[in-house]
Amino acid sequence: NNNHSFDETSKDKQLETFRSYEKGKKLTTNQGLKVAEDEHSLKAGLRGPTLMEDFHFREKITHFDHERIPERVVHARGYAAHGEFELYKSMKDYTKAAFLQEPGSKVPVFTRFSTVAGSRGSAETVRDVRGFAVKFYTEEGNFDLVGNNIPIFFIQDAIKFPDLIHAVKPEPHNEMPQAASAHDTFWDFVANNQETAHMIMWHMSDRTIPRSFRMMEGFGVHTFRFVNAEGKAHFVKFHWKPKLGVHSLVWDEAQKISGKDPDFHRRDLWESIERGQFPEFELGVQIIEEKDEFMFDFDILDATKIWPEEVVPVQLIGKMTLNRNVDNVFAETEQVAFHPGHVVPGIDFSNDPLLQGRLFSYTDTQLIRLGGPNFHELPINRPVCPFHNNQRDGYGRQTINVGQVSYHKNSLADNSPSTSTEKEGGYVHYEEKVDGRKIQARSDSFKDHFSQARLFYNSMTLAEKKHIVDAFSFEVGKVKDKNVRQQVVDMFVNVDKGLATAVAQAIGVDHPDGEESAVAETSPALSQETTAKLPDTRK
Ligand code: HEM
Repeated sequence: NNNHSFDETSKDKQLETFRSYEKGKKLTTNQGLKVAEDEHSLKAGLRGPTLMEDFHFREKITHFDHERIPERVVHARGYAAHGEFELYKSMKDYTKAAFLQEPGSKVPVFTRFSTVAGSRGSAETVRDVRGFAVKFYTEEGNFDLVGNNIPIFFIQDAIKFPDLIHAVKPEPHNEMPQAASAHDTFWDFVANNQETAHMIMWHMSDRTIPRSFRMMEGFGVHTFRFVNAEGKAHFVKFHWKPKLGVHSLVWDEAQKISGKDPDFHRRDLWESIERGQFPEFELGVQIIEEKDEFMFDFDILDATKIWPEEVVPVQLIGKMTLNRNVDNVFAETEQVAFHPGHVVPGIDFSNDPLLQGRLFSYTDTQLIRLGGPNFHELPINRPVCPFHNNQRDGYGRQTINVGQVSYHKNSLADNSPSTSTEKEGGYVHYEEKVDGRKIQARSDSFKDHFSQARLFYNSMTLAEKKHIVDAFSFEVGKVKDKNVRQQVVDMFVNVDKGLATAVAQAIGVDHPDGEESAVAETSPALSQETTAKLPDTRK
C-alpha cells in the first residue's frame, strides 16, 4: 500500500495488484501444484470408495464448503460500481477535508445501492428504502457517506433499531413475507412507535420504488459537522441529486417487473455502465451555522425531520460519475465495509442519537460478517493512502509487520509510527462544549411526529396522493390483525383525515374518530375541492 498516487485512478491501480487473471493459465491447487485430473476423484479400484489421500479433491470440496459468509443483517441485497468524484467548488470556508479544497480535483469512489429488508436473493423492484453508500478513497483516508434514498429515518434513537428491523424483516415464526411493508409486525411497530409517521409517508409514496438506481436521490440523513482550518464548525447535511432526475415505477409495473426480472435494478446499472452511459449524481450540502442551531421549529439532531430546502438551500458542490463495473461481485460488492464513522479531518459528527448508535454498529457487525478484525486489508476496503499502526494479528492477517516493537510509545524502535499534529493532518475531534445531566429524553420537538409528515403529503400532486392511498391500502390491507389496521388508520388521521378515511374504506376498518362509514365516491383526500386548496409546492 505504499504505491499510491492520489488521483481518481489510484484505487484502480491498487486493485490491479490483487487481480488474478485465470484465462490461459494452468489449473493448480492452492499450493501451486499443477493438477492433472479434475473430473474424477481418486478411488480404490474400479468400483471402490474414494480415498482420503486425494488432496486435490479434499481441497476443492473444503474450499467450496466454506464459500458463504453471512449476508448483511440489513441491506443484504445490493449492487455496486466504481467511479470518481470531482469537486465543483472549494468548500474550504467550511471544511478542511482535502478532497473538498481544489475545484476540479478528483478522488476514486465505490458506491453500493441496496434494498433494506429483503435477503440477498430477493427481488429488486420492491417497496423498500434504498441504501446509497459511497466510499471516497481520499489522500487522508476513506470517507464513507452511508446514506439512503429517503432524507429521514423511521426512528430517532439507535436503541430502537433492533426493534424496527425485527418488525420489518420476515416474521420469525414462518419467515414471511419478504416484502418489508405488507405484514402485521411492520404496521404494529409503526402504530406503536409514531415517530415513524414521516418516514412512512415517504415509504408509501413512489419514492420507495425507484425506476433505476441512476434515478434516485441519496441523503446522509443525519446532521454532520464541517470543520474548517480555523477550527470553526458548521452543521451540514449531505444530498445526492441524480443528473437523470428522480423517477419511480408505479406499483403495478414494479410488481410485474419483480416477477419477470428480479435483477432489474442491477441489470440496469451494469448495462448502462457497459454502454458508457455513466450514472452521474451531484453532491449537495445544506449548511447551518452553529449559532442558528436552535432557530428552527424542529431539532436539527432529529433524524425524522428534514431541513426544508426552501429554508436551507442545497448547494451543489461536486459530481460523482460511476464509470466502471466491478470485476468480482463477492470480492468487491459483498466484502466492502461501509461505516458512517469513517471520516476525514474536516468532517465530524453531531449528537443525533441515531447517528451515535450507528457509529458503534457497523464495525461490530462487520467483525462477524467479514470474519475478524482484518477486513480493512481486503482490497476493496484498503485506503489509497498508507496506513500504519500497532494493531497486530487476528484471523486472516495479511500484512507482515516488520520489527521488534508493536506498541506506542517506545524507545526501542528508532522510527515506529508516531502521531500527527493537527497541522500534519492528525484527526482532532471537534471540541464541542457538552454540559448536561445523564438523561434519556430529548428536546420537546422530538415528540412532534406529524408536522413534517403532513408537509410531505400536502406537497404531493393528486396522482401522487392517489398512489399513497393505494399503497397504504395494499400494504396495510395485508395485515391480518384488525386492531393493528385500525390503529394505523387512527394514527394517520394526524397526517390527513381524507387519507386516513380513504384507507379505512379500502381496508375495511372503522373510519378514524369512529365515524360511520359514509363511503364517498371520491375520497375526501382526492376530491377536486381538497386538491384545489393545496399549493403545488413541487413547481
Ligand atoms: C447497513 C446498522 C440506520 C444506511 C447497515 C448494517 C448495519 C446497520 C448493522 C450492515 C452493515 C454491514 O454488514 O456491512 C444500522 C443502525 C442504524 C442504521 C444500527 C440506526 C441506528 C441507517 C440509516 C441509514 C443507513 C439512518 C441511512 C442514512 C445503511 C446502508 C447500509 C447499511 C446504506 C448498507 C451499506 C452497504 O451497502 O454495505 N446498517 N443502520 N442505516 N445501513 Fe444502516
